[in-house]
Amino acid sequence: MFRSLRSDIQAIYENDPAARSTAEIIFTYSGLHAIWAHRVAHALYKRRFFSLARFISQASRFMTGIEIHPGATIGQRFFIDHGMGVVIGETCEIGDDVVVYQGVTLGGTGKEKGKRHPTIGNNVVIGSGAKVLGSFKVGDNSNIGANSVVVREVPPNSTVVGIPGKIVKSNGKRVTGRLDHSHLPDPVIEMFRTMHQEINELKSEIAALRQKNQDGGKGA
Ligand SMILES: CC(C)(COP(=O)(O)OP(=O)(O)OC[C@H]1O[C@@H](n2cnc3c(N)ncnc32)[C@H](O)[C@@H]1OP(=O)(O)O)[C@@H](O)C(=O)NCCC(=O)NCCS
Repeated sequence: MFRSLRSDIQAIYENDPAARSTAEIIFTYSGLHAIWAHRVAHALYKRRFFSLARFISQASRFMTGIEIHPGATIGQRFFIDHGMGVVIGETCEIGDDVVVYQGVTLGGTGKEKGKRHPTIGNNVVIGSGAKVLGSFKVGDNSNIGANSVVVREVPPNSTVVGIPGKIVKSNGKRVTGRLDHSHLPDPVIEMFRTMHQEINELKSEIAALRQKNQDGGKGA
């Protein structure tokens, strides 16, 4: 157990360059307080002390702004940075060495029953404000961009960004054509180009007709 507590602290040193001392981490990192409270709540939940587990989880939420359902399964060295607004659902499963930032929701879509929250693989980073919704898997070593909304399975070693989340990198290589911001079609410019072309064609036709009239007038 002490090894697990020590590894939680070590995870903070590894992921947060601002962490200065163990005392500072123990007393001021609300993400760590939430995880430790969750470990107690989850143990009670597994022994079917559901209400007591829920009480601890709600007390922790009041103190930290982080809501982790006691039923959620969380691996080793989980790091919640800043934390405020993080919500983790009952049937969520989280692997080892996962990092989540403030405002992350690991939730359900409201349409599923039973297992309705995501399974997060090992070594996954979930950026601030991201929502991962549904009972699918986010593969190992994947990154979810800040403010993304992910509603589908994410293969391992992927980077997903946007709403709805799209894979922009896979195994370290950029997935082409997905996020080509500099070449997005602009319908207004396209319309002006077409109009410009039509006006030029009309001008040429009018000039040709005028010429024809002048030639006809001279001939008469
Ligand atoms: C997604 C993230 C983890 C980077 O992963 P990565 O695999 O290194 O991806 P890259 O930085 O190479 O970005 C890949 C593409 O996605 C884009 N992108 C990255 N993050 C994005 C986001 N959150 N939303 C939209 N697009 C994003 C990049 O601009 C890049 O686009 P391009 O290929 O057109 O240039 C990172 O951008 C991120 O969002 N981290 C969260 C950090 C956070 O929440 N910090 C809070 C601190 S308080």
